Amino acid sequence: MPQLARRIGRAKPSAIMQIAEKAKRLKSEGRDIISFSIGVPNFLPGEHVYQAAREALEHDSGQYGSNRGADAMLDAFLQHIEKIGLTGYTRANLATGVGAKHVLYNLAEALLDEGDTIAFPTPYWTSYLDIAEIVDAKVDLLPCPPEQDYKLTPAQLDAALAKKPRVFLFNNPSNPTGMVYGRDEIAALADVIAKYPDTWIITDDIYNRMVFDGVGYHNFVHCRPELKDRVIFVDSLSKTYGMPGWRVGFMAGPEVVAQAVVTMNSNHITSLPEVVNAAATAALSGPQDVPDAKCAEFQAKRDQVMAVMDSIPGVVCPRPQGAFYVFPDISCAFGKTHGPTGKVVGNDVEFCSVLLEAKGVACVPGSAFGEPRALRISYTCPTPQLAPGIERFKEFFSELS
Ligand SMILES: Cc1ncc(COP(=O)(O)O)c(C=O)c1O
Repeated sequence: MPQLARRIGRAKPSAIMQIAEKAKRLKSEGRDIISFSIGVPNFLPGEHVYQAAREALEHDSGQYGSNRGADAMLDAFLQHIEKIGLTGYTRANLATGVGAKHVLYNLAEALLDEGDTIAFPTPYWTSYLDIAEIVDAKVDLLPCPPEQDYKLTPAQLDAALAKKPRVFLFNNPSNPTGMVYGRDEIAALADVIAKYPDTWIITDDIYNRMVFDGVGYHNFVHCRPELKDRVIFVDSLSKTYGMPGWRVGFMAGPEVVAQAVVTMNSNHITSLPEVVNAAATAALSGPQDVPDAKCAEFQAKRDQVMAVMDSIPGVVCPRPQGAFYVFPDISCAFGKTHGPTGKVVGNDVEFCSVLLEAKGVACVPGSAFGEPRALRISYTCPTPQLAPGIERFKEFFSELS
């Protein structure tokens, strides 16, 4: 039999999806499962989005579209990012993709030759590593433990950029930690970036509308507009508008980079479907009450989860200020035995596995994000499930000795 490409040997299925699948299977077998695993927003977009899609269907929605994205959608996105202070961009600075994941993949293809280095903080969103491995880039992981609130310091960034990586990939608010960098923190990192002109900066900030406590969203180009010729902002409709299955991602950055992504699109997807363009345009330019309400709801859920985390002896959980994740350090449990099942919890993977079997609560082990002392709780489940789910989590701790 002929061989597969070496690249496929480096490609791994998403660790998060594997947990989500296991939880789904147990549920279909009749188990009472509460899933904190997959990062889905769990709400639907407003009626105007469906209306726009229906209207598009009635016209000539079967045509090929633009490799960059429909003009109306690009214009709606330009107006959308102006509201978060990203101004002065034109259609030529934009490109779209089948979700931000696809945009990120295209950026990796466009910016990294084999053997080039991409640096990013740990904990990281799982796909960063997976994509880097597929394109055969070298990865420089910058460890940001809970002791520093999972945040990158200017000194760490300076040391990393001094090694001249081709790309520095930044994520704010963070998946998996929910951490948000304040204005001063972003300004300090931007000052470091300004010293190193040979590195592209990708800011994967798809949770930029889900920021709590009045911290606000800040980007390197807010602090240093001259970085616009190297900073690539990535956004998505998935989480903000409850539209993960519609698969729409964006980038705004230097024209040359946007054009590279458009060229990649022309070679594999051609364009997003017209119905999707219409729905995306409506989401971006229509009423924003759904995302605004959801942000307030997630902040309240964050408070609910944190109240329980703070009450479990030994658990260290930096307080998230955005997205919909908490990322507790649960390493105090390692080496202990779970009384009712008699199982030893040796590490994060075993913790999640025994927790799922014993309590029917699905979480993602931190090692999927490069931090094996922790686990990720995604708290977007239906509200009535949240309190029992986190209570079961707490109960599990009380059963360890
Ligand atoms: C940080 C981050 N970037 C990108 C993505 C991908 O989003 P999309 O659904 O637009 O592909 C996700 C999805 O979970 C994410 O958490």
